[in-house]
Amino acid sequence: MEQQKQPPNIIIDLIKVTKIYAPDVQALADITFSVNKGEMIFLTGRSGAGKTTLLKLISKVESPTKGMVEVDGIDIAKIPKRNLYSLRRKIGMAYQDFKLLPERTVAANIAVSMEVVYRRNSFIIKRTRELLEQLGLQAKINTPAAELSRGEQQRVSIARAVANYPKIILADEPTGNLDAETTERVMSLFDDLHQQGTTLLIATHDTSIYNQQHRVIQLAFGQQNTPQATDSDVSLQVTN
Ligand SMILES: Nc1ncnc2c1ncn2[C@@H]1O[C@H](COP(=O)(O)OP(=O)(O)OP(=O)(O)O)[C@@H](O)[C@H]1O
Ligand SMILES: [Mg+2]
Repeated sequence: MEQQKQPPNIIIDLIKVTKIYAPDVQALADITFSVNKGEMIFLTGRSGAGKTTLLKLISKVESPTKGMVEVDGIDIAKIPKRNLYSLRRKIGMAYQDFKLLPERTVAANIAVSMEVVYRRNSFIIKRTRELLEQLGLQAKINTPAAELSRGEQQRVSIARAVANYPKIILADEPTGNLDAETTERVMSLFDDLHQQGTTLLIATHDTSIYNQQHRVIQLAFGQQNTPQATDSDVSLQVTN
């Protein structure tokens, strides 16, 4: 039986989460926030603030030192290793350092996320083509990842993360190496998925990719500094 302690519209719940990397690097301190199903949230903060760490805790690539992370109503600390695939299917993660297989082609790298759930070949090919077209990478479909520019590798890692229609997409600096036009392509892909009900959490330094319609979570030195719609928020904007 799945636990359903939280309101059903919450899909990610972090409760007093602290992460200390051995021996003593405190990356996150007492972070608490919830993400609703279908939300598109931006996670900001300076280099070293803890953004990547936070995404890794949600996808269980790292484990918290203290606190609890729930995804889809389940305390992910309690998921045994052999069942981790169930969490991984729900989450598509585009890593800051891409994590592509360098010898494999673009198509093969993207197919990885779909093969694990036994998608039919025809589906895999169609979805790969569609994503490459949307991201402006059709010409590279058979190119080994090692021969791609950083911006191209970045787009392949994004395509792999979203290919299998995961419920949740965690994107770590997804536009870090892209020009304005390519950034727009990526954001339009994310907007489409958002319209379809996908939940997205996007870590970024790029203030051009979000606006006031989006919820922004700011991290500073591993702590949360979520702007609230209050008077103090106004002074915060002025001083910035
Ligand atoms: N594997 C690790 N071992 C030890 N310390 C780590 C490890 N990963 C991250 N850190 C440290 O944890 C802190 C948070 O790092 P993190 O990568 O989460 O920051 P970030 O906000 O993603 O930064 P950036 O914007 O540069 O990507 C930093 O002080 C970093 O040096
Ligand atoms: Mg990072």
